[in-house]
Amino acid sequence: MAMATKKHFPLLSSAATIGAMALKNRMVMSPMTTAYCNDDQTPSERLIRYFEERAKGGVGLITMELITIDESHRYMHRSMTLAEDKYIDAHRRITDRIHQHGAKVQPQLSHTGPESVAPLFGGPQPVGPSVSVSPVWGWHSRPLEISELPTIARQYGEGRAGLERRVMMASSYMLPIVTTYWVLFFHRYAINAQMNILPLRRKPVLA
Ligand SMILES: Cc1cc2nc3c(=O)[nH]c(=O)nc-3n(C[C@H](O)[C@H](O)[C@H](O)COP(=O)(O)O)c2cc1C
Repeated sequence: MAMATKKHFPLLSSAATIGAMALKNRMVMSPMTTAYCNDDQTPSERLIRYFEERAKGGVGLITMELITIDESHRYMHRSMTLAEDKYIDAHRRITDRIHQHGAKVQPQLSHTGPESVAPLFGGPQPVGPSVSVSPVWGWHSRPLEISELPTIARQYGEGRAGLERRVMMASSYMLPIVTTYWVLFFHRYAINAQMNILPLRRKPVLA
C-alpha cells in the first residue's frame, strides 16, 4: 500500500478482524462479475491473474464475484460455481495466489434465483420466492415449494473451498430468494439445517 494512503487514511490502513479472520487493512473489494471463467464454470488463469493483481495492489479482503451454489442455475455463461467438491481444487488456485500477497478472500455464494440463465443452456426454469419476470431475459421464474428450501439451504452450507468466509452480498440481486429462505426456513419452520453461515448472523467487527 502506498505510504500516502497510510498517512492520510490511518484507520483505513490499519489491521482489523472479522470473526477469526485477520485483515491487514480495512479495504474490501466488492464482488464484480468478470465473465472471465471457463465454460465449465471453473476459474480461468485470466481470472486468477485478475484477482492476483488486486491482491498485489494492497486490498485487505477480496470478494470474489457471484459463485453459484447450484451449477444447473448459472449466473452467466462464464460465471463460477462451488456446487460440488470437484470444484474445490480449481478454487484453491485462486485462494493460494491471493494469500501469497497477504490478502484474504471471500466468495459471494448465491443461488441465482430469477436471474438464472439456465434456459440458455437447456437447463431448468429459474426459480424464485414468487413468479417474477427476468428484466434481462424476459422469462418467468417458478415459485419455489417449501419442500425445496432444505436443499437450497444445504447447498449454501456446503458451498465452500478453504475460503475465509462464505456469504457476502454487495447488491440486492439475490436478496429476495435469501430473504424467503431465512424467513420461511428458520423463523416459520425452524428446521435445524446444520448450517454455518456465520457472516449473515454475526456483526462485522470493523469498528
Ligand atoms: C461489472 C460489474 C459487475 C458486478 N458484479 C457483481 C456481482 O457479481 N455481485 C454483486 O453483488 N455486485 C456486483 N456488482 C456491483 C458492485 O459490487 C458494486 O457496483 C460495487 O459494490 C460498488 O457499489 P456502488 O455501485 O453502489 O458504488 C458489479 C458491478 C459491476 C460494475
